Amino acid sequence: MRWLYFIFDWSDPMTFDFTETHLMIRDTARQFALDELAPSADERDEKEEFPYDAVRKMGELGFMGMMVSEQYGGAGLDTVSYVLALEEIGKVDAAACVIMSVNNSLVCWGLEEYGTEEQKERYLRDLASGKKLGAFALSEPEAGSDATNQRTTARRDGDYYILNGTKNFITNGANADVVLVMAATDKSKGAKGVSAFIVEKGTAGFSVAKKEKKLGIRSSDTVSLAFEECRVPAENRIGEEGFGIKFALRTLDGGRIGIATQALAIAEASLEASVNYSKQRKAFDHVIADFQAIQFKLADMSTNIEAARGLILHAATLKDRREPFGTAAAMAKLFASRVAVECALEAVQIHGGYGYIREYKVERYLRDSKITEIYEGTSEVQRLVIARSLLQT
Ligand code: CAA
Repeated sequence: MRWLYFIFDWSDPMTFDFTETHLMIRDTARQFALDELAPSADERDEKEEFPYDAVRKMGELGFMGMMVSEQYGGAGLDTVSYVLALEEIGKVDAAACVIMSVNNSLVCWGLEEYGTEEQKERYLRDLASGKKLGAFALSEPEAGSDATNQRTTARRDGDYYILNGTKNFITNGANADVVLVMAATDKSKGAKGVSAFIVEKGTAGFSVAKKEKKLGIRSSDTVSLAFEECRVPAENRIGEEGFGIKFALRTLDGGRIGIATQALAIAEASLEASVNYSKQRKAFDHVIADFQAIQFKLADMSTNIEAARGLILHAATLKDRREPFGTAAAMAKLFASRVAVECALEAVQIHGGYGYIREYKVERYLRDSKITEIYEGTSEVQRLVIARSLLQT
């Protein structure tokens, strides 16, 4: 039902002083999402099918390396453009949205910012143009929120590092051509003893271990990765030895803007479905939109959505100005992810029994929303980041 997605234009272009380019990108992403993602999003969710064709087309449209400079095959756009495109894609398909977000925020951005010239030529070019897909491997069975507690090791051996260990919950992991892997090069140094490496698919000793079955975002892949005596050229280290945790956390600051946007998109889709449904569904001789019980829910959803949008655009703007944006990104993710879950829950409630069955999309929105409070830093971690910024001397 195409119309469901574009009856409302929630993002008022006047409010944030968007440029013509911003609006053009938003419209292109919207059209792409409606044409290419909407018809098959439910089926792919049901079958847990990765959107190979859509991701290839997203690459052709420049959506997989939006902020990468043109010099390295990217679209050379700002974070605000990225947010606008991501939002349109996330409104229709939250799984495609996270695939795009990880490649842009966690892989391309970090490589361009901290990679060597050779690394950018060799890896960034294909990642930014969508010819290759990237993944970011920080999480481990015992290093989730406690990210510095890396058990994966990287032992120097001449011109190589030998990686051993397991990474888990890796988005894009099964389909990635290039994975950025954090590993301990000197355990005695704790957080300062972790380094970041670029590992190519097909490297001996590197394998995809287990594919997870998930509650939501089911057509994106989430896997464990295994490293067994995996030899990685020393030239594939990103930055100096010991830079890995700073690299990962700085990169995640940007990633959180992406996930906040995914959350915003799910919330918007939930509201849009709820408005449409409440204007059609009749009870007690009225459409349910006539009842204040429904109106108040819609009003709260809409207000929270606009507040989340403001936080996200604020964080994106700070990043584009190259000002500190980590706290703003944490606030955006903390707030938007809560709004996503609340809006999806309310959408199911408004739809009643129909909200609980697969035929109506709000059931998927609810399943998709929860992960936004967990990955790229739980809501508890976002609060920690925000509180630390208030309390630091
Ligand atoms: N940018 C750069 N450096 C940072 C930083 C940032 N945002 N935050 C902290 N650091 C630095 C610190 O300064 C410190 O370095 P020094 O010792 O040189 O000062 C080092 O990193 C370690 O920091 P902390 O001492 O603050 O570490 P901590 O153990 O207290 O933990 C934390 C801090 C905020 C909890 C952090 O570990 C964290 O953010 N955890 C969550 C990790 C996360 O988001 N994981 C998501 C996995 S990826 C994912 O989900 C992707 C996906 O697939 C979708």
